[in-house]
Amino acid sequence: MITKRSIERVTETARIEEVVGNFVNLRRRGVNLIGLCPFHNEKTPSFTVSPSKNIYKCFGCGKGGDSVNFVMEHEGYSYIESIQYLAKMYGIQLEEVEVSDEYKKSEEKDQSLFIINEWAKNKFSHYLFNTQYGSKVGLAYFKERGFREAIIKKFDLGFALDEADALTKSAMETQYNVELLKELGLTSQSNRDFFRNRVMFTIHNLSGKPIGFAGRIMGKNDKLPKYINSPESSIYNKRKTLYGLFFAKNEIRKQDFCYLVEGYTDVISLVQSGIENVVASSGTSLTTEQILLIKRYTSTIKVIYDGDAAGINAAVRGLEMIIAESMNVKLVILPENHDPDSFIQEVGTSSFQEYVEKNEKDFVLFKVNLLLKDAENDPIKKANVLKDIIKTLSVVREPILRSMYVRECSNIMKIDEKIIYNEINKLIKTEIKEKNLKRLRDENEDLKTDLTIAGGDEDKEKISQTVYQVSDAYQENELMKILLTKGCKIYNKETGELVVDRIISEIKNNLQFLKINCI
Ligand code: UTP
Ligand code: MN
Repeated sequence: MITKRSIERVTETARIEEVVGNFVNLRRRGVNLIGLCPFHNEKTPSFTVSPSKNIYKCFGCGKGGDSVNFVMEHEGYSYIESIQYLAKMYGIQLEEVEVSDEYKKSEEKDQSLFIINEWAKNKFSHYLFNTQYGSKVGLAYFKERGFREAIIKKFDLGFALDEADALTKSAMETQYNVELLKELGLTSQSNRDFFRNRVMFTIHNLSGKPIGFAGRIMGKNDKLPKYINSPESSIYNKRKTLYGLFFAKNEIRKQDFCYLVEGYTDVISLVQSGIENVVASSGTSLTTEQILLIKRYTSTIKVIYDGDAAGINAAVRGLEMIIAESMNVKLVILPENHDPDSFIQEVGTSSFQEYVEKNEKDFVLFKVNLLLKDAENDPIKKANVLKDIIKTLSVVREPILRSMYVRECSNIMKIDEKIIYNEINKLIKTEIKEKNLKRLRDENEDLKTDLTIAGGDEDKEKISQTVYQVSDAYQENELMKILLTKGCKIYNKETGELVVDRIISEIKNNLQFLKINCI
């Protein structure tokens, strides 16, 4: 493990203007440097680098931080990878300390898993291109689907032979440990190959290493699943993996949005047609972790779903999660019987893009219309729809966006905006109360006892609740109320500290973001 001292040396040595300068053209403006933000599309520079504070901040998209944050954000590296990058840049030798045997073993094991997967990936590719059966069946299948050789190689597509244990035997001849093959899901408990007679899709992590595979069946067979996927292992966490993200990340950042599709083949087809900012949630339904991965590069997701009703309903349920992460979600429904792969292959790239532009719908408004259509002329159903919509609106945290939605919903549903706001506020308050209670119980037992505010128990409770919760509009309101009505009162009789001073010092201690905003 890298020592703390080495990490400190790196962070002390790294000059923000030099690190950012590797990727962005900067020019001087006063004491700062400015340039075009690499994290969002802009024509006039709002990306500012402060050499004296050794930090960067974009006043357009809000991203900011130090050299390590910049490399993590820009390159999609982990913390340690960023430290290694900076160490290399400045020629700093990183000291490693002895770690526990257990840790070392798990690290070594992960390295072995990567090596075996890399080997298997090459083997599947070899079976696809260099065996007679593989090229007759697998390669011919990919070609018939319109995948050209360059894209097959880029995405590390391959083929698993129709033999009981071709891969397992070969791995054992290479002296790979069969237990690790089993952990990776390449070999079954009875020492047979897990993937047989299937075309293979390699699943990469963010640095492009193979962490798992998916195999698609040849032809149709109702008894067997169309795709089978590697199981999770210590190097493959499905909740945190998006198919195609390794190839897409730079383009997502450049375009400032990401297409989210359902299938592996959809990703490959779009990339082949020149649309490279596309990922799929592979083998699981969409997770919050996957959304946060996309959020590293953009805050807009365009979800493209097949036109069938089941797909639409699943989409509507899944997409609430994206809204809750304060991201913009657009929904594109394709013509019936099409998925992104078949559609782009039929109409071509520019018609595909045109269709998307014409048909993309804001997710929240789409949902309102969809639900309302279902509840037409039925007041009870309509009341339920309202409840459902209000729940969605209550997770939209961005105030301007929320007010726009409320206005639209009030128009569509013919309900007064005020009523909608009232309901949203009620819901938010209940949620906050519950959150407060839970958190208070968990964390703030000691604080409650040392509050000695002059104003009485009720106020004590309020300050402690308010200051110690996550910041949002409700807390801001409560704080304002306390400041205006009790700000000048004495908080601590002994020291003479006022309520206002107390609040400011609590905020300084607890809310990290204030520091970043102060650049
Ligand atoms: P689809 O059935 O839409 O397949 O599943 P597809 O991707 O369009 O594939 P083709 O075009 O028929 O070859 C969408 C995604 O759902 C997952 C896969 O990630 C697939 O790409 N899936 C589907 C499975 O994991 N297992 C299955 O049995 C089916
Ligand atoms: Mn398909």
